[in-house]
Amino acid sequence: MKPRPFAYARPDGVDEAVSMLAGHPDDAKVLAGGQSLIPLLSMRLAAPAILVDINRIGELAYVRTDEDGVRVGAVARHSDVEYDEAAAAAQPLLRKALRLVAHPTIRNQGTVVGSIAHADPAAELPLALTLLEGAVTCRSRGGERRIPAAEFFVGPLETALAPDELATEVFFPVLPAGSGTSYREISRRHGDYAVCGVAAVVRVDGQGAVVSARAGYLSMAPTPYTVDLTVPLHGGRVDDGTALDGAVQLATATVEPGTDVHATADYRRHLAGVLTRRALHEAYAKAVQSSDSSPRDCTSGRPDVQSRREKRGRRSPAKTHDIRLHVNGTAYDVTVPARRLLSDALRHDLGLTGTHVGCEHGVCGACTVLIDGEPTRSCLMLAVAAEGHEITTVEGLAEDDGTLGPVQRAFKECHGLQCGFCTPGFLTTVTAGLRDNPAPTREEARDMVAGNLCRCTGYQNIVAAVLGAAEQAPETVAP
Ligand SMILES: Cc1cc2nc3c(=O)[nH]c(=O)nc-3n(C[C@H](O)[C@H](O)[C@H](O)COP(=O)(O)OP(=O)(O)OC[C@H]3O[C@@H](n4cnc5c(N)ncnc54)[C@H](O)[C@@H]3O)c2cc1C
Ligand code: FES
Ligand code: FES
Repeated sequence: MKPRPFAYARPDGVDEAVSMLAGHPDDAKVLAGGQSLIPLLSMRLAAPAILVDINRIGELAYVRTDEDGVRVGAVARHSDVEYDEAAAAAQPLLRKALRLVAHPTIRNQGTVVGSIAHADPAAELPLALTLLEGAVTCRSRGGERRIPAAEFFVGPLETALAPDELATEVFFPVLPAGSGTSYREISRRHGDYAVCGVAAVVRVDGQGAVVSARAGYLSMAPTPYTVDLTVPLHGGRVDDGTALDGAVQLATATVEPGTDVHATADYRRHLAGVLTRRALHEAYAKAVQSSDSSPRDCTSGRPDVQSRREKRGRRSPAKTHDIRLHVNGTAYDVTVPARRLLSDALRHDLGLTGTHVGCEHGVCGACTVLIDGEPTRSCLMLAVAAEGHEITTVEGLAEDDGTLGPVQRAFKECHGLQCGFCTPGFLTTVTAGLRDNPAPTREEARDMVAGNLCRCTGYQNIVAAVLGAAEQAPETVAP
């Protein structure tokens, strides 16, 4: 299925964006990374009249850390925050949460604010924000307001944002000295949405006695759910069995999980107990460690997250757009409806049929191309939004004389493909993966391809092909 027709607009400032939202109070949607919204459009579970693409708004492209906490603007990608050292030092729970969100390809496009605004009860960041008692700043034509996390999430995929409000920033506060955190979850595969997830924050005094302890749960309630576990643990140590048993008992008695296709309520409650124990242990150990160490310098400015987002011009609302796409070093001028997915534009408008389409909701990875060198699902990007970026498809991985490139050769030599349907997505993903990590271990090679599905080859040969390509000179692998 394809999205229903809609108009697409790309404002270049917050004021313009909120005016557009105010002009369509009932039928506009904000487009951030599109990693949740585009699948909803493609499945026709959402059918807005207009999409307001905020990716061009440079003033929202930042990750800022100071002694109070980490502020993330609405255009900062998951990966921008994940790799920000100052943010990780100031609020370690943030990086722990981000590394559990999907796969790197999704994190290249998805935004932190978008994930919070999407309010999926199985998502990691809404729980992190709630447990840390952070806040969301939003703007409308009426002005700005700050919504504490405890009031922001009101139901599954439902928030306190009014239809004409744009979330501009989320704030993750720094914890007091002597605090430690942990994020544990169980999912079928690493990167999948979790069947159960637990985050914990423990604070200790100078002697290692617990001052406060809290745990939070995902996939257990319609909104992120937190429990105060201070009473059973107060004044003691988390490695004291009796106190820990008391805390786990309190947590499992309080959570009210449901049964669905992924797990029964009983199994989820069992997991909550196991993960609470592990998370409290780890958070306690980190807290003791942190109370021993000297204060960190966590000041940083990283205004340059703007990077690739600002390469495209402003666009007024329209259902059809004349755009120029740069693919494999060639410029193509095409006219596309706003709803045209980049995968379809590559295949049908440009005739580059090497990019394959499997699931069309971001899961299989067959459609993965490189956008400015970063792996991206082309089925989760609108063609009009790809304007101004350098796109590399599998056709662009061949040598100039048309012979196979190094990653392609390694896949052929190691029998890393059979029917070849999934192969273009693996090749683009691995090309970027080896550029960033030219000598991966077997485990890292497995991780590199974990976001791509293959139905017929088997992953042994694919991993062998990654390692085989890595044995060649790294400079021959980079695109
Ligand atoms: C294969 C796959 C696996 C995934 N696995 C996980 C996972 O394990 N854990 C997880 O947490 N997520 C997962 N996700 C979702 C991913 O993290 C999304 O990036 C995230 O949920 C939404 O961020 P986005 O920037 O892509 O938002 P979009 O998709 O652009 O928007 C999502 C929603 O939020 C609204 N919105 C976005 N930004 C704003 C704003 N600034 N103001 C107001 N409203 C706004 C949109 O209108 C839309 O309703 C997965 C996605 C895919 C495709
Ligand atoms: S991930 Fe795009 S087609 Fe499957
Ligand atoms: S080679 Fe057939 S699906 Fe992967």
